[in-house]
Amino acid sequence: MRNQFYLFFLLVLFIFSCQPTAQKTANRGTLAKNGLVSSSHPLASEVGVNILKKGGNAADATVATFFALSVVYPVAGNIAGSAFVVYRLKDGQIGSIDGREKAPAKAHRDMFLDKDGNVIKDLSLLGHLAVGVPGSVDAMVEMHKKFGKLAWKDVIQPAIELANNGFKLTKREAESLNRAKEQFKKINSYSLHVVREDRSWQEGDLIFYKDLAKALERIRDSGRDGFYKGETAELIAKEMEKGKGIITKEDLANYKAVWRTPVTTAYKDCKIISMPPPSSGGIALLQLMQGSENYPFTKWGQLNSQTIHTMTELERRVYADRATHLGDPDFYKVPSEMLLNPEYNKKRNASISPVQKTLSSAIKEGNVKSIESVETTHFSVVDKEGNAFSITTTLNSYFGSKVMVEGGGFFLNNEMDDFSVKAGVANQFGAIGGEANAIIANKRMLSSMTPTIVEKNGKLLMVVGSPGGTTIITTVYQVMLNVLAHKMTMQEAVNAKRFHHQWQPDIILMEKGAIPDSVKTRLQNMGHIISEIGGLGKVDAILRLPNGMYEGASDLNRSDGAALGY
Ligand code: DON
Repeated sequence: MRNQFYLFFLLVLFIFSCQPTAQKTANRGTLAKNGLVSSSHPLASEVGVNILKKGGNAADATVATFFALSVVYPVAGNIAGSAFVVYRLKDGQIGSIDGREKAPAKAHRDMFLDKDGNVIKDLSLLGHLAVGVPGSVDAMVEMHKKFGKLAWKDVIQPAIELANNGFKLTKREAESLNRAKEQFKKINSYSLHVVREDRSWQEGDLIFYKDLAKALERIRDSGRDGFYKGETAELIAKEMEKGKGIITKEDLANYKAVWRTPVTTAYKDCKIISMPPPSSGGIALLQLMQGSENYPFTKWGQLNSQTIHTMTELERRVYADRATHLGDPDFYKVPSEMLLNPEYNKKRNASISPVQKTLSSAIKEGNVKSIESVETTHFSVVDKEGNAFSITTTLNSYFGSKVMVEGGGFFLNNEMDDFSVKAGVANQFGAIGGEANAIIANKRMLSSMTPTIVEKNGKLLMVVGSPGGTTIITTVYQVMLNVLAHKMTMQEAVNAKRFHHQWQPDIILMEKGAIPDSVKTRLQNMGHIISEIGGLGKVDAILRLPNGMYEGASDLNRSDGAALGY
C-alpha cells in the first residue's frame, strides 16, 4: 500500500514537472499563471521574473527590471532619464508616479536660439545642453518605498551583476552602438569603452559596464542620495562643466518625483487608466478612445480604408489639441477637464466627413521626414496577486544626448528637445507646441509616453505601452483597439501592422506592407497623403484572460524583447 502511494506520488510529481506554468501558443504570446514581465530585453525580463519567483511583488519586479534595462539596454534604459509609471493594485487602487526630467535652474526660454531668434541646429539634441535633470531613479526609489516587499539592495543587485559580469550583445544592440560611434566620439572628450576601434561590434560580443556597476552600487547603498548627491552627482556636475552644460549639484539634489492621479475614461465596458500631464499621452489616448466609441470599427475591420480614415481624423484633432493645450501642470493650467469631456470630443469630431479628409491647419507647419529611432522603452509587469505596473522610461533619442558621464558609465538624456524650443517649430518628432510647453527653469517638458492599464468589469484586463516619441500614442491606441474592437489576442494585437497621423505634418505614416494598393488608393481619393515607414513603436503588453491566466506579448518583429512568466 505504501509503495502504491509512493508510485502515485511520483506520477503526480512527474505530471506537474512536465507542466510548464509559462508557455507559448501559436497565436498567443507567453501564457503564465503567477506573474509576467514583458520588456524589450530578455535578460531584463528574466531579472524581473526571478524577483517575482523570490516572492517580490510587481513593484519589486518593476524596479529590478528597470535597473537591469539600464545595463543591458542602454540605448533607452537609463539611470539618467525619465520614467512614468501607472499602477493598478490588486484591490483596484490606481495611481501614477512622474519621474520626468526638469529643466535645470539656469535654463531659459530662448536657450536654444541664436541672436536672431533662430533655432541652433542640434543644440537641444546633442551634447550637454540637451540634458534635463534626471528623474527616473527618484521615481524608482519612491515606488519601492511605497510598495516594495523585498529589500532595496536585492532588487538592484541583479543589474549590478549584469554590469560587472558582462552580457552578450544582440544584433540590434551591436548595430545601435556601431551607428552611434561617430557621435560618441564627437560629443565626448574621452574614449568611451562602448566605442570599439579595432572593428565593429557584432552580435554575441561580450560587453561590460564596470563604471555603471559602481554607480548602481552607490544607488544600492545610499538610495536616492547615491545618485542625486555624493560621487555620482559630482561626476555629473564635472561632466557638465567640461561640456558647457548647465546642470548643477543643486539641480540634482532638488529633484523630486511626483505622485499624480492618473487620467481615466470609459470605453464601452472598460475603464482606461493612463498617465496624466506632463504626459500628453494619457489625455490624447483617452480622447481617441472616446472618439472611437462612435464608430463601427469592429464591423469595418482593422486596416480597412474607412477605419484608417476615421482614426486619422480623430488623431488630427487630438494632436492639434496637444500642441496648444498640453504642458507641465505645475507651470501651466492644462484644461484636462475640457479635453476629457465626452461632449467636447463629440462636438470636435462632428466635423469628420466619411468621404473626405479635413485639411490640417496650415498655420503651424511641422516637418518630420522620418523618425530617427524608437528608443524609449516600455515594460509591463503583473504578479500573482494581480498587481499591475505599466512603465515607460526614456533617454529621448537613442543613447540620449550621446554624452556618457566620465567615470559614471551611463548616458545622459536629451530630453530638453521635448520642450517647444521655439513656438511653432517642430522638435525631432515633428511635434510643435507653444506657450504651454515653453522652457522655464525647473519645469518638466511635455512627453508622449503613455503607460496604460485597462480594467474591465472592475478587473484588470490589460497593461500596455510603447516607445516611439509622438507615435507612442497612436501605437498604444491601435494595440488597444486591436484587442477591444478587433478581438485579437495580445500577441496578434502587438504584431499587427500600424499607421500614424499627428495633425502636423499632414501625412499618414504607414508601416511597410500594412495595406494593399486598393486601400491606399481609396485613402488617396479621400485626400490623404501616405508615406511608408519601417516600424512604429515597440510594444510590451500583458492581457489577463477570462480564465485568470496572463498573456504576455513582446514586439518580436520590431525588437529583441521577451515576455517571460512563471
Ligand atoms: O517623452 C517623450 O515623449 C519622448 N522623449 C519619447 C522618446 C521616444 O519614444 C524615443 N523614440 N523614438
